Amino acid sequence: MSSQEEIPEENLPSEQRAAHGAVERTDDPFADPGLPAHRPRVQDIDERAAKRSERAVAFLFTLSMVATVAFIASFVAFPVDKIVFIFPFGHVSILHFSLGLTLGIALFCIGAGAVHWARTLMSDVETADDRHPIEATPEVKAKVLEDFAIGAAESGFGRRKLIRNTMFGALALVPLSGVVLLRDLGPLPEKKLRTTMWRKGKQLINMNTNEPLRPEDVVVGSLTFAMPEGLDQHSEDFQKQIAKAALMIVRIQPDEIKDKRELEWSHQGIVAYSKICTHVGCPISLYEQQTHHVLCPCHQSTFDLSDGARVIFGPAGHALPQLRIGVNAEGNLEALGDFDEPVGPAFWERG
Ligand code: FES
Repeated sequence: MSSQEEIPEENLPSEQRAAHGAVERTDDPFADPGLPAHRPRVQDIDERAAKRSERAVAFLFTLSMVATVAFIASFVAFPVDKIVFIFPFGHVSILHFSLGLTLGIALFCIGAGAVHWARTLMSDVETADDRHPIEATPEVKAKVLEDFAIGAAESGFGRRKLIRNTMFGALALVPLSGVVLLRDLGPLPEKKLRTTMWRKGKQLINMNTNEPLRPEDVVVGSLTFAMPEGLDQHSEDFQKQIAKAALMIVRIQPDEIKDKRELEWSHQGIVAYSKICTHVGCPISLYEQQTHHVLCPCHQSTFDLSDGARVIFGPAGHALPQLRIGVNAEGNLEALGDFDEPVGPAFWERG
């Protein structure tokens, strides 16, 4: 038996069926039904209806702009801790409620405006496009550009200037909401990181005894930690203030001090330096009596206290700030001003 005899005739290719004398069937059960006939919308045939749709779209985009402005105004006007009762949500923060509501309206109106524009004014003529190789031929590229130009013309983007302008306005304004929220990342540091509690006349208080330091309390070879007079160790603010104002005091024989300014800012060889490492701000605590080196335990930056506290080893990029000191009428050590540069990581000096 030949292979063709095994295949039912209706399954053979048409030319073979024709050769066998079969009658060609024209009713393809899977025929492409094609696209339904285009039915014009009311906006396609009535210019007044088109104008109404245009105004509706512009209204939605304008509403989005208003909502964005209201979002910014709410952010400025409402305190975060103001609670109000709003049915059916109950007690809510007025700030959070208004931010959510206005941002929701702003985004919704942009979406609704775009959808209404597409459904009522842009061309809704359906077109079929055959599959084609992925790589576009020059003719296809030219056709795409031509179609793009037709699409842009049919969308009324150039003609309907009211829609175009309000849409640009809404899209330009809505990102402002995100910019405004950046303000919530925290208060700006202003000058807080550049200044400390030290002022002219503030006494140096021994952090161990809580008593004012006197020159005779500081002996050669010792390392003493001090804080400004008036700083209460139990106050809420203590950690914030001591993180900037902590001092370490050492006494060096004046003839061993190599740096001229350091000698001028000292009192009988007693020098006061910031205890905060200029690398990333760890408290320094290791003192080598013989060399007058202090070592930061975090990454081993080493500073020479007999030479302006310059860095002699490690990643710190800056000498420790020195506090100018003297002695007051009661014979206690006192500051003669604040540090003349920011303490801690050198970033703040360049920032
Ligand atoms: S914080 Fe002091 S060396 Fe890194």
